[in-house]
Amino acid sequence: MLILGIETSCDETAAAVVEDGTRVRSSVVSSQVDLHARFGGVVPELASRAHLELIGPVVDAALDEAGVDLDRVDVVAATYGPGLIGALLVGVSAAKAFALACDIPYVGVNHLEAHLYAAWLEEPELATPFAVLLVSGGHTLLVAVDGPAEYRVLGATVDDAAGEAFDKVARVLGLGYPGGPALDRLAADGDPDAIPFPRPMAAEGLDFSFSGLKTAVVNHLRHHPDADRGDVAASFQEAVVDVASAKLLRAAEELGARTLVLGGGVAANSRLRARVRELAEASGRTVFLPPLHLCTDNAAMVAATAWWRLRADGPSALTGGAEPSLRLGGSL
Ligand code: KG4
Ligand code: ZN
Repeated sequence: MLILGIETSCDETAAAVVEDGTRVRSSVVSSQVDLHARFGGVVPELASRAHLELIGPVVDAALDEAGVDLDRVDVVAATYGPGLIGALLVGVSAAKAFALACDIPYVGVNHLEAHLYAAWLEEPELATPFAVLLVSGGHTLLVAVDGPAEYRVLGATVDDAAGEAFDKVARVLGLGYPGGPALDRLAADGDPDAIPFPRPMAAEGLDFSFSGLKTAVVNHLRHHPDADRGDVAASFQEAVVDVASAKLLRAAEELGARTLVLGGGVAANSRLRARVRELAEASGRTVFLPPLHLCTDNAAMVAATAWWRLRADGPSALTGGAEPSLRLGGSL
């Protein structure tokens, strides 16, 4: 079964063709980073307009790369939430138009669920249950995955998402947008123990809080304007990584899960990847860190999720729209 997946929830226009839920025949991602960079963040109206221009060429490129015509596609899927309403509507409308024109089923996909399924794309034999730390620009969640289409949200951020904290601190450090990757690079030259930033909610449960940590960095820079920027970046990153990795391990211990998994854009962070690997080894667990192109937003994960969703729930109604505030299970 060939599924055409479409992803337009934020600032990447992406399309992919995935066979039988696991074999990626093509995955094309067109990033709008350059368009938004000079505004220091994603401008929703600009994002929608760019998606509108890019969606046709990106879908064509995905079909081309997969070596299939549209009439060979069996199902079309699109992210319907969460995300920016105007951006989501471009992908959902395109997918529904393809479904109508080709007389094939349409499947609406939850973007957060898609980040979870990215793990299976690379590692179809991944044994359940496993614990996933899903850390992106908009979300920070700890999820227990008991099987395909079976998961439970164990914890979530009570304020900022981890990626949002990275982006905000990066902006204060003058690193531009998106700041996560730039902060990761700057931190490589800094001392992670230079500044004892707080480890918010470290000892409590499985929820997160990053807004106070961001404020601590801002206050530190206000009182020490000459502070070494590499040390600030490394010390901030260390605080996020300490809390995030410890809670992922705690979740796995509570679940009795043998495998730790990362997902979402912040899963590309070099320190977080190294630390989760160390913790897994020290606790006798296995670890699965998806490759970077599957951690950040892409449409292969959307097509893969649609395959499982189709089995569990059947196709989505063509009357369904976009849901900007869609949640994962009972998450915050
Ligand atoms: O999953 P994603 O591509 O988009 C959302 O669904 O939000 O995540 C984007 C987020 C941004 O906040 C970006 O700064 C962060 O992931 N990010 C990183 C790194 N690469 C991307 N944060 C820290 N270190 C990185 N290497
Ligand atoms: Zn995402």
